[in-house]
Amino acid sequence: SVETNALAAQLERLGLEKVEKYPNCFPEVNPIDIYRSHITSLMHEVTGIDPAIIYPAVQWTQSLDKGDAILAVPALRVKGKKPAELAEEWIAKFPESPLIEKPSAAGPFLAFFFKPAGLTKFLIPTIRKHGESYGKNPHNGLVDPNDPNSGKKKMIVEFSSPNIAKPFHAGHLRSTIIGGFLSKLYEGAGWDVTRINYLGDWGKQYGLLALAWEKWGEEEALLADPINHLFNLYVRINQDMTAEKEIIEQKKNLGEDVSELLANCLDEQARKYFRRMTDGDADAVAIWKRFRDLSIVRYKKTYARLNIEFDVYSGESQVPESDMENAAKVLHDKGVSEDSDGAVLIDFSKHVPGKPGKGLEKAVIRKRDGTALYLTRDISELLNRQKKYDFNHIIYVVASAQDLHLKQLFKTIELMGHEDIAKKCQHINFGLVLGMSTRKGTVKFLDDILRDVGDTMHEVMKKNETKYAQIEDPAAVADILGISSVMVQDMSGKRINNYKFNMETMTSFEGDTGPYLQYAHARLCSIRRKVGLSDEELDSADLSLLTEKHATDLVRLLGQWPDVVQNTLKTLEPTTILTYLFRMTHVISSSYDHLRIVGSEKELQKARMALYDSARTVLSNGMKLLGLTPVVRM
Ligand code: ARG
Repeated sequence: SVETNALAAQLERLGLEKVEKYPNCFPEVNPIDIYRSHITSLMHEVTGIDPAIIYPAVQWTQSLDKGDAILAVPALRVKGKKPAELAEEWIAKFPESPLIEKPSAAGPFLAFFFKPAGLTKFLIPTIRKHGESYGKNPHNGLVDPNDPNSGKKKMIVEFSSPNIAKPFHAGHLRSTIIGGFLSKLYEGAGWDVTRINYLGDWGKQYGLLALAWEKWGEEEALLADPINHLFNLYVRINQDMTAEKEIIEQKKNLGEDVSELLANCLDEQARKYFRRMTDGDADAVAIWKRFRDLSIVRYKKTYARLNIEFDVYSGESQVPESDMENAAKVLHDKGVSEDSDGAVLIDFSKHVPGKPGKGLEKAVIRKRDGTALYLTRDISELLNRQKKYDFNHIIYVVASAQDLHLKQLFKTIELMGHEDIAKKCQHINFGLVLGMSTRKGTVKFLDDILRDVGDTMHEVMKKNETKYAQIEDPAAVADILGISSVMVQDMSGKRINNYKFNMETMTSFEGDTGPYLQYAHARLCSIRRKVGLSDEELDSADLSLLTEKHATDLVRLLGQWPDVVQNTLKTLEPTTILTYLFRMTHVISSSYDHLRIVGSEKELQKARMALYDSARTVLSNGMKLLGLTPVVRM
């Protein structure tokens, strides 16, 4: 095949005849796997140990001074001798190799350094050839990773999931950013990914919203900005409802008969209206559907700015009543749920052994008036997703404030007899954003934040008049930079950590920020523009000229990229990617003084430009994986 031929050519360049294909070794897409495979073969020669044990034990390192690959001797499970002793013995016997230096011992580890000349000559053309797909590994998502014909596994990522007519708060923002990233991560790993937005679009509050619309709704305002108009209506009627409740309460305290007031109050009207919706009353459903459809149109525009597109807009409204009744029956028949004062609940302490109080507590699944709840809907929605998509794995990207809710959901599915489904469910949680506000006040919607951060970036850009004049559409670039600021700040720490929304730090060019990454990318683009070398010239560059430590260190880092992505599939933390990108961009920026292009002779220019251009490819791939749009000028 084409892949095999390309690989053969690469091996020739390395002076290798062949590479053993161990399980989960993908030399066609991960160049370092060639080295891992080679190390494994040599280690097998030296130790006689089964390569299947050696290969997975050859790991990447955290910093370049520790080597390019590292092997923990105890992982090879040789009995009777100390790891350090074994290491010494093996090093003494280690044969010469065209690819790697003789290993060195570091405590119980063997450290391997790749020979830089070979790595450079081999890696840069590989990155140039793979381009945008460098770092992707389509084998991961296969039913059998080692069998290309086994078909893709199916992943559902549910994320963002805002509530119509309510603020799009920080929790939704984080869910959107993290969910968008995870979807891209799994897609790059060869999974068949379906992105679902599970809208909060059902419940009594949507009856209340419809009442507000009947009272004060304005057609034009709705069409112009549905999300804001609905939100304003919702706020207004909630104020009325609260005021009304207070009055009723006061009268009650004075001993007056409030039964008539209660029967006609907004809360009761909303309940009745929602009942019409659940009963399928055509008019009631039509109004609600308009709100939903218009909101979705608006949401889509915002998501597009973040490079996100959902495959499905599902939502709480989409769960059929009949499905929830069926689920209730199963729960009842299996003795999972119980009646309590006319309501139905699950007392998890009866089903989950554990310390009282530390468990999953109790959850109501039917109110006394017969209405379903958030959890009730989630149960049936999950079962329906399994039927509809037959997924291998499902991820819920939801704030850690809902840890208990999702634990209850997964446990309920298990107690219903669907252990198989429960095993495929994963909650990806995250902490809070503190102090999120804009100059214009507290944030209500994502668009407000993005507009505000974009404005800030625009002001920063204007300070450099010459550069500013060269940018074709500065407002658009400012918008992208603003979005990058927000996203990078969000992804900098571990997901579970809270962080403080800080407009000043996030928009700064100092430190590990979005603008810094964008600047690093734009600078690489600008160097390429200025030097004006063609792709053919870079392809024919004499890479043996790249001998300086700055150059070879950068090459070594670029080689790690596919492994960084692999590792991220384990951590599922965007910060794993970001940390690497910052490490890499710091090395690039400290290289500029040592690996000059301007003033160097042509051949050296070509070689260095080929290196910088490979770095740009990796940086761009990383940024895109995070959901950022790399800019070429700023
Ligand atoms: N709409 C919910 C909220 O804003 C989030 C939904 C999370 N997903 C779920 N399947 N429960 O809190």
